[in-house]
Amino acid sequence: MYEYQQSGRYFAQVADDIKDIAETELLELGAVETSPSYRGIYFNANPESLYRINLHSRLINRVLAPLKTFDCHSDNYLYKVGQQIHWEDFLNPEQTLAVFASVTQSNINHSKFAALRLKDAIVDYFREHAGKRPNIDTRNPDLWLNVYIEKNVAVISVDTSGGSLHRRGYRMESTQAPMSETLAASIIRYAAWNGQTPLYDPLCGSGTLLCEAYLAATKTPSAYMRKKFGFERLPDYDAVLWAKVKREADNKVQPISNNLIQGSDIDLKAVTTAQKNSAIIDPATQIKIIQKDIFEIEELEDTTIICNPPYGIRMQQEKDLSAFYKNLGDFLKQRCTNSTAYIYFGDRDYIKHIGLRSAQKWILSNGGLDGRLVKYEMY
Ligand SMILES: C[S@@+](CC[C@H](N)C(=O)[O-])C[C@H]1O[C@@H](n2cnc3c(N)ncnc32)[C@H](O)[C@@H]1O
Repeated sequence: MYEYQQSGRYFAQVADDIKDIAETELLELGAVETSPSYRGIYFNANPESLYRINLHSRLINRVLAPLKTFDCHSDNYLYKVGQQIHWEDFLNPEQTLAVFASVTQSNINHSKFAALRLKDAIVDYFREHAGKRPNIDTRNPDLWLNVYIEKNVAVISVDTSGGSLHRRGYRMESTQAPMSETLAASIIRYAAWNGQTPLYDPLCGSGTLLCEAYLAATKTPSAYMRKKFGFERLPDYDAVLWAKVKREADNKVQPISNNLIQGSDIDLKAVTTAQKNSAIIDPATQIKIIQKDIFEIEELEDTTIICNPPYGIRMQQEKDLSAFYKNLGDFLKQRCTNSTAYIYFGDRDYIKHIGLRSAQKWILSNGGLDGRLVKYEMY
């Protein structure tokens, strides 16, 4: 029996800033005994909930199922323990694998080296036991493995998601400074958008916020386009149970009204990209995206406005955007009566230029940048 089978305990990798809403999401999807930790949340789940979490979670990056935890003071020992696991429980030599590692405060002090040693152990294991070795594929392997070593304690886990869940499958093209799907999903979640009030992103770029809003409103699972999950490689994988979880999810998908979700951008290339991306999840093109300068929008009343204005850090523009943010504040004040805006600032220095009193603020970093989500209510 492997560790996750004995304990029913898993680790969800998630960005530190959104652990509060990610924990709530995990509980909604059937996790129990959640316990937030550094860069993730430990939780217990039965196989059905594990499958459901992987299919539906909009906020977590991946779920790890621990196989073995052990003291590990050298790469030779990692290799030795790596050879003791019965790898034929997880894959056959015709299939492919990849090992990802992360190490901290340990004798083995290079992640890539740890990954390499475990990979060697597995490959040698197969050579000895099957006379054949599986190939490595770091982009789309059948088996995704993870080794985490902290203070010389190692955990070897299967990535039950099969690669990061932020890859929803709808972003075929991107524009300048697109935001990650999980960040966009967390903004929709913090906004507590009810899926009824019209939602508009007037600076939509590649359309990530619009796509995440669409998935939320239609109750479409975030991983519904994913072709294979890592949990399918677990020895106790139950295909009948997985089919049931999928069927239940399919039955819950609901249509939305036309014009519920709309967006625009000044840049034609961004608009084309957003239209192409959104058409992948929304073939009926209910998400309406047009080319328009935000300052030419006459009014956006009774609307949930969600957007991510340009910011210099990512775009490497020297340009001072203070005037842009002042105009954005004026636009919200003068033309958005009765609307609520959630503005994501990639550079929080610009918050002061908007000239509006905030109703709420969240720290939300974006790929290492110290961003803020700010809520404004217009009357
Ligand atoms: C940070 S990007 C938005 C990224 C988007 N959230 C995504 O995930 O792709 C900011 C966007 O604002 C657009 N923009 C800048 N000035 C604008 C204006 N005056 N009117 C409309 N869009 C504008 C840019 O073209 C750019 O696509």
